Amino acid sequence: MAFITFEGIEGCGKSTQAKLLAEALGPDAVLTHEPGGTALGRAIRGLLLDPANRDMSPEAEVLLFFADRAQHVAEVIRPALAAGKIVISDRYVDTSLAYQGWGRGLDLELIRSVAELATGGLRPDLTLFFDLPVEMGLARVGQRGARDRLESERREFHERVREGYLALAAAEPDRWVRIDARGAEADVQARTRAAVEARRLAPSHGLR
Ligand code: TYD
Repeated sequence: MAFITFEGIEGCGKSTQAKLLAEALGPDAVLTHEPGGTALGRAIRGLLLDPANRDMSPEAEVLLFFADRAQHVAEVIRPALAAGKIVISDRYVDTSLAYQGWGRGLDLELIRSVAELATGGLRPDLTLFFDLPVEMGLARVGQRGARDRLESERREFHERVREGYLALAAAEPDRWVRIDARGAEADVQARTRAAVEARRLAPSHGLR
């Protein structure tokens, strides 16, 4: 049983890396994501990403992300951990600290108290931060076509989010591993597996 979260800015490639890691772990792993890891969450995700909701207040935004997360923890993450799985979540509480805290300027301690309510204090065993320059991430996103509401934020917003991640990782070095997300997919995956193996969170036979 282990809880591993994947974090990073837009276009960092974490979703691809999470999928590859989950495949390597096989049936021991449960791969999930935020926002939208449950039926309720998918409805909330639609509201959050719709560019038409450009006037959403930062407070409404953070509470919607945490509504999604509360359901995700209750319905997916806790049951899977109780069943002895390795849960891999593509984004978790740290995304809200980086995006709504550093990005939007909401108070970090307030976000942390909402996190206690939403998650019951559930913390990841390991958080992998896929780091690359903002310019590079946004260029990757640009190739995918229409941008959602958060992707459409100004570059400075994404710079603040990255600064947030760097600060969070530095503050809790036992939980965070920063992974260089530049370069070939296979190389980044090798770094990802090395980080998981080093923490002995996966059974030694687990990573094929
Ligand atoms: P998504 O399409 O899942 O993209 P990504 O591959 O970047 O995870 O979009 C999720 C978006 O929501 C992304 O821009 C990050 C943002 N987000 C927050 O701002 N706060 C949060 O708490 C979460 C979970 C996501």
